Amino acid sequence: MKTMLESGLATPLNPEKRPGCYLFRSHPSDVARVENRTFIASKREEDAGPTNNWVDPEKLKAEMTKRYTGSMKGRTMYVIPFSMGPIGSPISKIGVELTDSPYVVANMRIMTRIGADVLKVLGADGEFVKCLHSVGKPLAKGEKDSTWPCAPSIDDKYISHFPEERTIWSYGSGYGGNALLGKKCFALRIASVQARDEGWLAEHMLILKITDPKGKSHYVCGAFPSACGKTNLAMLIPTIPGWTVETIGDDISWMKFGKDGRLYAINPEAGFFGVAPGTSMQSNKNAMLSVEKNTIFTNVALTDDGDIWWEGIGSDAPKHLIDWQGNDWTPESKTPAAHANARFTAPASQCPVIAPEWEDPAGVPISAILVGGRRASTIPLVNESFDWGHGIFLGSIMGSEITAAAISDSVGKVRRDPFAMLPFIGYHVGDYMQHWLDIGEKTDKANLPRIFYVNWFRKSKEGKFLWPVFVDNSRVLKWVVERIAGEADAVNTPIGNMPTTDAIDISGLDMTQDEMKELLAIDVEGWKKEVASIRENYKTYGAKLPAELNRQLEELEKRLG
Ligand code: GTP
Ligand code: SPV
Ligand code: MN
Repeated sequence: MKTMLESGLATPLNPEKRPGCYLFRSHPSDVARVENRTFIASKREEDAGPTNNWVDPEKLKAEMTKRYTGSMKGRTMYVIPFSMGPIGSPISKIGVELTDSPYVVANMRIMTRIGADVLKVLGADGEFVKCLHSVGKPLAKGEKDSTWPCAPSIDDKYISHFPEERTIWSYGSGYGGNALLGKKCFALRIASVQARDEGWLAEHMLILKITDPKGKSHYVCGAFPSACGKTNLAMLIPTIPGWTVETIGDDISWMKFGKDGRLYAINPEAGFFGVAPGTSMQSNKNAMLSVEKNTIFTNVALTDDGDIWWEGIGSDAPKHLIDWQGNDWTPESKTPAAHANARFTAPASQCPVIAPEWEDPAGVPISAILVGGRRASTIPLVNESFDWGHGIFLGSIMGSEITAAAISDSVGKVRRDPFAMLPFIGYHVGDYMQHWLDIGEKTDKANLPRIFYVNWFRKSKEGKFLWPVFVDNSRVLKWVVERIAGEADAVNTPIGNMPTTDAIDISGLDMTQDEMKELLAIDVEGWKKEVASIRENYKTYGAKLPAELNRQLEELEKRLG
């Protein structure tokens, strides 16, 4: 951090307001994951499948080796041994990242467990995932470094995975999932391949613990696409009396079978890399309290008294700010002060509601899995699957409007995002869906988590969110838990088991039964269009489309009449 302060890379925040906190401003070309420059270079193209960019691994390595040659000139190379999951736990996995970015080191120190203890566990011949990273900006002798070195042209960036070799090569970007290689590259893309081979699951899911007024706890995972509410749900403060939520993880869940035949989840990460805009004391108090100290902020705005500010932080914009690009900003400015994908990197241990068992190497037994995305129409607030096969079908048909979490020209358009893993499956999507179906055969049906399809983002004809946001999602969680306990009513509908209009507790909410009806309405015409669109999507799977998914689609079509 000292060198980064001296070189102007890091801006220290006011120690009285944000002790141990630093601000970074990235290059405008380097603000999110670059999906069109993310490669799955498996030996055979058919192993990468239709959802990944495939390049022949030998060709890719030759091309990248040219770029890497001399790319770290004038910089310090850091070696980061890190553990995903508690150090030494049998579920954890080790990686070693070589990087020329001190920003990456500072972030990895928060997001993973790093250091000499990891080397001890690794020993002389332990297994590890090889992670190579360069920002792709060599420094000539005497050349002054820029505040965010990277390869500015998108075509010069590469986020490459060699699944058979358990190897990651990243070049040209210093941001988030492109550069903190333990996160999406390892814990999802490479780990999903390891999980397929070894019979477990590596998923883009939050993990939470919910306790009812009687003191009974359940653990729930939730798969929502990037910037669709995982961090918010993972730390939510319930608005219904007597219920509590605690956090296990906010982005990634590794699930393995325990001796009792249930799926146990660990959070392989040690920190949160969370979306800043929209986070406030009202929307996510626990996140705000988590970022009070020892936190790295990237691409947020800076106040004149050395604190942070972003759109939706819950206070009016001050008269003057320095925006995420380092320019003067006033409320009259036409551009946002913080980037839409501005992020905080904070230690999970600072979260006031982190569950005491969050680092338990045995993991926590999962009772329910929620899936869902941002859908303005058609998809109701909550819908329970009939059984495992139907639940996996719901996971496969999940769609979401595209957000700013990745660089794309079609923000807002709906795309299918199976289990929120579209950009993170390290192999063929058809094999991935089959793997989920196979997991269901490995244990007694009664041991499997129940799967629920949720949508907090349904809008009225006037374009207003129908469901009050964030914290009231606890009311849906309550119904989920009551379903698991066999205490809540449901109606069997063509799309799944739905709550009766009065099954979801809306007491104290400024909401009418009619609005609730609209949220839970089954839009038959909309669903018929959905079926057609799913069928189109399934065609891209080719011969690898699991027969069970096709069967589920046909059954749904029949039930819709
Ligand atoms: P990644 O870190 O990119 O994987 O995202 P995430 O899934 O953790 O998303 P996060 O919880 O950070 O939510 C992103 C943004 O979505 C928030 O800042 C809010 O603006 C919005 N959001 C989150 N939850 C809700 C919700 O329940 N309702 C509505 N309407 N908006 C939400
Ligand atoms: C996401 O995009 O899902 C994130 C942020 O969690 S990043 O680490 O950049 O992938
Ligand atoms: Mn994520």
